[in-house]
Amino acid sequence: MNQKTIQSILTEERTFPPSDSFAARARIKSLDEYQKLRAAAEKDHTGFWADLARNELDWHTPFNTILDDSKAPHFQWFTDGKLNVSYNCIDRHLESRGDKTAIIFEGENGDTRHISFRELHGEVCTFANALKANGIGKGDRVVFYMPMVPEAVVAMQACARIGAIHSIVFGGFSAESLKDRIEDANAKAIITADGGTRGGKVIELKAACDAALDKGCASIEKVFVLKRAGNNVPMKQGRDIWWSDAVDGMSQDCEPEWVESEHPLFLLYTSGSTGKPKGIQHSSAGYLLGATMTMQWVFDINEDDIFWCTADVGWVTGHSYVAYGPLSNGATILMYEGAPTVPDAGRFWKICQDHKVTIFYTAPTAIRALMRFGDDVPNHYDLSSLRLLGTVGEPINPEAWMWYHKTIGKEQCPIVDTWWQTETGSIMIAPVPGAVDTKPGSCTLPLPGIAADIVNENGDSIDDPQQGGYLVIRKPWPFMLRTIWGDEQRYYDTYWARFKGKYYLAGDSARKDKDGYFWIMGRIDDVLNVAGHRLGTMEIESALVSHERIAEAAVVGRPDDIKGEAICAYVVARGERPLGDDADALVQELRAWVAKEIGPIAKPDSIVFAETLPKTRSGKIMRRLLRAIAKGEEITQDISTLESTDIVKQLQGKA
Ligand code: PRX
Repeated sequence: MNQKTIQSILTEERTFPPSDSFAARARIKSLDEYQKLRAAAEKDHTGFWADLARNELDWHTPFNTILDDSKAPHFQWFTDGKLNVSYNCIDRHLESRGDKTAIIFEGENGDTRHISFRELHGEVCTFANALKANGIGKGDRVVFYMPMVPEAVVAMQACARIGAIHSIVFGGFSAESLKDRIEDANAKAIITADGGTRGGKVIELKAACDAALDKGCASIEKVFVLKRAGNNVPMKQGRDIWWSDAVDGMSQDCEPEWVESEHPLFLLYTSGSTGKPKGIQHSSAGYLLGATMTMQWVFDINEDDIFWCTADVGWVTGHSYVAYGPLSNGATILMYEGAPTVPDAGRFWKICQDHKVTIFYTAPTAIRALMRFGDDVPNHYDLSSLRLLGTVGEPINPEAWMWYHKTIGKEQCPIVDTWWQTETGSIMIAPVPGAVDTKPGSCTLPLPGIAADIVNENGDSIDDPQQGGYLVIRKPWPFMLRTIWGDEQRYYDTYWARFKGKYYLAGDSARKDKDGYFWIMGRIDDVLNVAGHRLGTMEIESALVSHERIAEAAVVGRPDDIKGEAICAYVVARGERPLGDDADALVQELRAWVAKEIGPIAKPDSIVFAETLPKTRSGKIMRRLLRAIAKGEEITQDISTLESTDIVKQLQGKA
């Protein structure tokens, strides 16, 4: 067989149509309606997006140029228009929704707050004025290192209001990573807190900032510090300023800075397969349009919804579906500061019950983790307010999908499996829930105006439903990344060079089934080549997890003289970690299981049991670490984000 193709081995035949009651009240009520939208976009790609931009956003200066591709692949949208993102998220709702709750907040220890759109406006303006009074203005970079509290959204909106560019560093990153990002962005200020609370512990945010600043970061002039956890922090005179002091006496009005459409709204650092993190740069107008429209298409957002996206603001999901998309639509969001298992594994479900959450959006890793605690935990809570569920970040294995569908959604809520990336800005491929039937494990169909396709090595479309290839986007879209901050060459090399500037390369492999549904098979570099067959690691993982004794699995390749690559599986069992004879027997059983589920070709060569899998702070499995372990290499990479270094010993088979 052709080694340059990726073989698909997973077949899932179940389909789930939206219920009549969901479809009846949905914004887009039928497949026909959705297809009309897609057809309109196909007929006139730029006109389609221009109409939405004119109708859905409020402009200070209307645009005439829709798409400037003269510097492709640096595409520019709505170039001669001007607007302000914070005006669109807050001010335009004040008349009709001033008293409506914009943010419901719950802290880990149970403290709650409700903030109306009018109150949010006041807080954003006072903080924007404080930033200005401290010398921060249009185009300055401001790094955030914040807990998941409403002030994070306030500060993002305040930056947007004055045209400052925020760059959020997730609070779980080390001081070293923070320093690298500050220096790469050449940031002028930091916004942080004394500390945040997670898992009952105080995360010392200010201390980490101080450590980063001690090591360099010469560009930083001011550090704004929110008092949240109440831990003691030293303040450096002239540099550090308490949030409460900064806003003291500031006006509650702040005229928005009307910025060009292409003015950068934010940078967000994300890791590539090699090298230092990339500062993904997003625009103002195009980005906001994506966040706004996908809230309508994918989340079917309505006036009375309570929308909860569990992502931290340190990730792109927390940008588009906490800070910008919902507010742009005048919707109410819920924010939760803490861990999902404090005080117990029912916390998420209790929050859904207590605040009558209607739309719940989380990551498969969280679903699998909570699934391990059994059905009794969620069954204890009234989840009847939920009407729509979502997932993001990685492929969801069909077993977790079914659990989410049955135990959380009570078979009533459509599940939107949303494929997108930090780079794409907003959701790209996902079911429009009142219109598109879902299939467990598939992110289904591209959204209107998104020219997603799967191509082979030569860039030709692949139509064979069993054959995978490169996931590409054939046409520019308004919310695409604009560049990698300070590294044009890397922007071109990473996303465009592979197909000579013709298509955007997402870096994922995927296949399309006979209905045109997309199935993400994993990152390109997670694809194994076993005896001439290229296999998506996710499909093997999914097979392992479908065994009744297995909770989680990660599969990586190890170079093998005969087969090219050998398959190494790292597995977490339900309940106790199997040891001794039990482990040996289970290894044999699992190998036979995978052989049965997928075929002998996918049978893992080795299976190791551990108590947990090594994950990054965002819950992604640290595959590079597993690859090194699989090869028996000495571990030289940073494993400081691991909960316990004993795990490494278990994975190495030494404990
Ligand atoms: O591999 C895909 C996976 O996550 C990658 C993007 O990661 P990041 O930029 O951190 O953004 C995560 C949140 C948008 C993708 O290249 N991914 C994301 N969503 C899905 C997914 N894989 C499968 N199914 C998804 N729904």
